[in-house]
Amino acid sequence: MVTGDETKIKERIAELIAQIEKANRRYYVEDNPTLSDAQYDKLFRELQALEKEHPELCLDSSPTQKVGAKKNEVFSEVKHRIPMLSLANALDMGEFSDFVGRVQKLLGAAANNLEYVVEYKFDGLATEIVYHNAQLEVASTRGDGIIGENVTDNFCTIKSVPQCLTQNLLTQVPEIFEVRGEVIMEIANFEKLNEQRLAAEEKVFANPRNAAAGSLRQLDPEVTATRPLDFYAYAVASTEGLNIRTEEEGRKLLKELGFKTQETLFVTKSVDEIASYYERMIIERDYLPFEIDGIVIKVNRLDLQEQLGMRARTPRWAVALKFPPREEYTKLLDITVQVGRSGALTPVAELEPVNIGGVIVKRATLHNQEEINRKDIRIGDTVIVRRQGDVIPAVVGVVKEKRSGKEKPYQLPDSCPVCSSPATKENDANVALRCSNPHCPAKISERLIHFVSRKAMDIESLGEKLLVKLLDIGMISSLQDIFALQVEKLAELERMGEKSAANVITAIDNARNPELARFIYSLGIRHVGEQTAKVFAKQYKSLDKFLAASLEDLQQVPDVGPVVAQSIVDFINDPVEKKTIEGLLANGVMVQENTAEDIVGGVFAGQIVVVTGTLSTLSRGQAHAEIEKRGGKITSSVSKSTTMLVAGENAGSKLKKAQDQGVRIVEEEEFAALLKA
Ligand code: IVH
Repeated sequence: MVTGDETKIKERIAELIAQIEKANRRYYVEDNPTLSDAQYDKLFRELQALEKEHPELCLDSSPTQKVGAKKNEVFSEVKHRIPMLSLANALDMGEFSDFVGRVQKLLGAAANNLEYVVEYKFDGLATEIVYHNAQLEVASTRGDGIIGENVTDNFCTIKSVPQCLTQNLLTQVPEIFEVRGEVIMEIANFEKLNEQRLAAEEKVFANPRNAAAGSLRQLDPEVTATRPLDFYAYAVASTEGLNIRTEEEGRKLLKELGFKTQETLFVTKSVDEIASYYERMIIERDYLPFEIDGIVIKVNRLDLQEQLGMRARTPRWAVALKFPPREEYTKLLDITVQVGRSGALTPVAELEPVNIGGVIVKRATLHNQEEINRKDIRIGDTVIVRRQGDVIPAVVGVVKEKRSGKEKPYQLPDSCPVCSSPATKENDANVALRCSNPHCPAKISERLIHFVSRKAMDIESLGEKLLVKLLDIGMISSLQDIFALQVEKLAELERMGEKSAANVITAIDNARNPELARFIYSLGIRHVGEQTAKVFAKQYKSLDKFLAASLEDLQQVPDVGPVVAQSIVDFINDPVEKKTIEGLLANGVMVQENTAEDIVGGVFAGQIVVVTGTLSTLSRGQAHAEIEKRGGKITSSVSKSTTMLVAGENAGSKLKKAQDQGVRIVEEEEFAALLKA
């Protein structure tokens, strides 16, 4: 008998399936997500719960019974010899404890002394590589877990992946050897790619995962080859014919064979240690070069894994403990316009304040009119907002299902909201509107704000308010004036006083010797973001050489397209800009030469360093940068390979672990001395 309730449940299941399938398609196939991860998880779980309660209503075609999305028509199919499973999620420590409880119950006595490996949950694209007689034969995406897409040609453009596994004669692999891992894009490369795409007025990627997916699933391998992809290996599909008994040994083999793997694998028997690792990684993920969206905990011994077995789509011996989401839904209340330092009118989303991973976000960039049109963003919409480390929050999508019909489409104004001058397009191919007034006050103040900002000259005490005030009263009118400010004059300002004035001047003095990349970025040259500036610093090494570059020279620089090259030529040949740079140098700015590549013998060369605790003079990120500049390698946790631990105030468990392992401990004073060496 079919009851009313049952009909309702059936309907709800159908609705959930439709929503999940649509989200899968948007996420996996179109790389243009419409659901936040948290929302997706919620729908998925509701469906799982309903199906569990009413197994008779569970369809074979339900997304809970398979992994990922339907494949795209474009690539040929590859059947995975061994299905590619997914992982069950735990959304907090409570759910993780449930996992531990289940494992213990199933294993009984064998659970005594149970060891787990804890690793990153890479946020990329699951991929399998099949080696036949040690030669890379096929690379495929996960697809639905059974059948994936053949992306071999594209995958082979990833330089860090070994094509052939015979170089290492110590390690023999079986005739068929399958390696699984994640194709990712490092955050810095993702930012650089988006900078270039904005410059070329192409669609920006919402996040590094989408950029990686979009790049791997390109139709033209030559395009993929220009995209900075990476592959991290985390599993051997079958250990038949191999002498491997644990996850840890599997990872060691992959490393020996030349695959990139997670630098340090955390092996522990203690659930408490996993809990504190999780807490720590929620913070330290911001310092990793790539995105992770959680940690994965696996039972280390393979025989125990086998004993635990699997469910329909996920193993019982592993779980993904996810981090709090970085994407949230909120309402788009209004769109305002910000005039950038180049005069570009940038639409800014004014949002109903929303807490994203512990930070309240009220505004987010909408990039440009083109992006608003492409995503069909309207005022009043429910939007998905993404925040990620230091990057400006962005609106990545719209939930069209939530529309009431009252939402209003938006069009950027055709005049500057600050000085009312006409805003024009530079040419027909260009979508960005710019204020046409060279003396627009917004351009000048934005340029100054950029110049002193943390990633630029880093003169923090010269805040936005003070800068605008100094501009208003005419004490500064251009970048170089900052370095001519005097304590006495500043101290005369209202609400300033001797002490704050002296602090500001000290901060300015401390900024007089910027690294070349920082200085280039500070200048605010159009299309030259932080990452592009680094590329130029690496190429040209000194400011003089950079300023002498010709258009042809600049176009030879890796990753630099004609738009960026032209923008630099325009800048360095502009008489006003020339005067600004001369003025900066005349006022005591001395730009350091870039010696980054020549420091093979730097004080930290060959060292694998962990920084922990609070340092009084440097942030964690700055300390990492200083160590890397001097040849050291940074890792986030103490492991067997760690050679040095830099310990600031309140160093906790890492210090203890390092001491236990006899790792060299460097306290702040010695660290400062090493930096000066
Ligand atoms: S193991 C049976 N380890 O997460 C276990 N997966 O939600 C299968 N992932 O499809 C995977 N980092 O794309 C494993 N260290 C890691 C991972 C990882 C990221 C991805 C992978 C997988 C998905 C499951």
